[in-house]
Amino acid sequence: MPSTDAALWCVVPAAGRGTRFGGGMPKQYLPLVGRPLLLRTLERLAAHPRIAGLMIALTAGDPHWPGLASLHGKPVLTCTGGGERADSVLAGLHALDGKVENDNFVLVHDAARPCVRGDDIARLIDLGVAAGGALLATPLRDTLKRADAAGFSLATEPREARWRALTPQLFRRGELVAALESARAAGVAVTDEAMAMECAGFKPLLVEGAESNIKVTTPADMMLAEFLLGREG
Ligand code: CTP
Ligand code: MG
Repeated sequence: MPSTDAALWCVVPAAGRGTRFGGGMPKQYLPLVGRPLLLRTLERLAAHPRIAGLMIALTAGDPHWPGLASLHGKPVLTCTGGGERADSVLAGLHALDGKVENDNFVLVHDAARPCVRGDDIARLIDLGVAAGGALLATPLRDTLKRADAAGFSLATEPREARWRALTPQLFRRGELVAALESARAAGVAVTDEAMAMECAGFKPLLVEGAESNIKVTTPADMMLAEFLLGREG
């Protein structure tokens, strides 16, 4: 039987180009309260007692990677990511061959989410292991509009039962690999792990997490992350 309360490995996709952020340096290496954003995310994950090690998916020959081998006494391994986020996650999961059994759970967390909270990670693991798979998410709070091609609002969509998917997401390694591979074979572009699992017939549990767990996508998000982390001291 796979152990359920042992610490878990976390795959961190960090092979993006930061197209929407713009600028020369990929956003994951820009300074955030004095340290590269990626390091802020990795430190937070490695410091968590429920996380055993980190597998980071980087771009091929990433010139900015500082070559870390461990953080807070936990192993930090790297692999080469792929063209899309899902390819990078799949590469990370494969690279855990021999370290994480197929039946064991793994976490996947975006490098671009440096503000994730430790208590949310712990709750995701507790509830997600019991449910067989889960993701952090927040209920939608804004009024949602459906637009036409010219940008006019056609209708207001119901907000009930609509959630925004965050990370970490937690699944059994073997089931997630199979789901991502079958989505790829079917030509379905999955934007998160839960979508791949849904396509494979699973129903991941939505675990409500803090809205401060933002994904840094634009320079405005970086300013917000700066504020949120600065406030933590
Ligand atoms: N990511 C990845 N491999 C890719 C694309 C994205 O590992 N081929 C990672 C990013 O580094 C990021 C996370 O997936 O940590 C979420 O992606 P996103 O916020 O979209 O980052 P980018 O793809 O870098 O940004 P953009 O879409 O604006 O280019
Ligand atoms: Mg992207």
